[in-house]
Amino acid sequence: AAQPDPAITEVHDFNKLLGDGVDRRPYGMPSKYEKHVVRRDVGWLTASAESSVNFTPLHELDGIITPSGLCFERHHSGVAEINPADHRLMINGLVEKPLVFTMEDIKRMPRVNRIYFLECAANSGMEWRGAQLNGCQFTHGMVHNVMYTGVPLKVLLDEAGLKPNVKWLMLEGADAAGLNRSLPIDKALNDVLIAFAMNGEALRPEQGYPLRAVIPGWQGNMWVKWLRRIEAGDMPWQTREETSKYTDLMPDGRARKHTFVMDAKSVVTNPSPQAPLKHKGRNVLSGFAWSGRGTIKRVDVSIDGGRNWGTARLDGPILDKSLTRFYVDFDWNGQEMMIQSRAIDDTGYVQPSKPELRKIRGVNSIYHNNGIQTWLVRANGETENVEIS
Ligand code: MTE
Repeated sequence: AAQPDPAITEVHDFNKLLGDGVDRRPYGMPSKYEKHVVRRDVGWLTASAESSVNFTPLHELDGIITPSGLCFERHHSGVAEINPADHRLMINGLVEKPLVFTMEDIKRMPRVNRIYFLECAANSGMEWRGAQLNGCQFTHGMVHNVMYTGVPLKVLLDEAGLKPNVKWLMLEGADAAGLNRSLPIDKALNDVLIAFAMNGEALRPEQGYPLRAVIPGWQGNMWVKWLRRIEAGDMPWQTREETSKYTDLMPDGRARKHTFVMDAKSVVTNPSPQAPLKHKGRNVLSGFAWSGRGTIKRVDVSIDGGRNWGTARLDGPILDKSLTRFYVDFDWNGQEMMIQSRAIDDTGYVQPSKPELRKIRGVNSIYHNNGIQTWLVRANGETENVEIS
């Protein structure tokens, strides 16, 4: 270099002084230089912090796993703090043998490890009527991707013995909301887990410690946290969470119900409003794609608002119902760009544009907005949430 670089030529404290010894932090935390990497909320969205949501900082992540401390939180009545010794899971209703499990009982049953995304049905819900929030953390951050350890629900149901007329289950939480949802029995017997660990350690309190339901590919509201009861029945329960909430109000005023699956979706996380472009020349565009129906087959990226598309490079494990990482390695010459990404899953489903989605769904809904996101990158690298009509 023409000028000496103090980062190289100066002797820093860390070069000459001993650092902290082992055990200074028995539970490790990120570097102090990463303090900005946190979940954030949007003050005006909700009336109280107990019935609220904060958002995963997607633009600060890489790979496909969301660190436990950065998983967005959505609580209807705050975080229940439960001593696992006092926690019970009850199975009752149309079963041969009603059962009660302690946490120790559950941990002695055969367990599996699976990586799945959880997306709140309301993710991107604030964007139905137009571009609103400036940052992928806020437009798309009601999603996280975690490795769960848990017992297949089928194992527990087999032990209780389902009566032949069982068609639905009701899952209920132990929090003050007593959040409950109806779950079709086919799904319950297929891939649902009762999880006690995430990313290799106990669930975090915010994520339902000590026990939560994992409903792969289906809307986050059904992933009951602090799970205390499963009732078997022959009809859906029509709970608040599946009638007045988590239904999709259509343009003609009727509501779609039981829209459980999260369709294919993607977002460019870098660049994005919270992560502007800073350098001309070599750059990495990056993002996530996911589908509740299976695996991601392809991600297309456009820099001219959807007129022309190229194919992104998928990297890392490409797993069923998991976030998938994509990259485009590119040279930026300072030109203005309208960046979009479009996910295609292994059923052939193609993520729709927002106008395509609104043609069918209108703008009355809060839930299931999987329309293509547009970021306008200006010549100075600043990036904005915009829409192309
Ligand atoms: N379970 C209980 N018992 N109470 C809740 O408030 N919130 C639901 C679901 N499970 C909730 C719950 C909603 S709306 C979502 S989107 C997910 O949990 C959020 O999971 P997370 O907090 O791990 O991100």
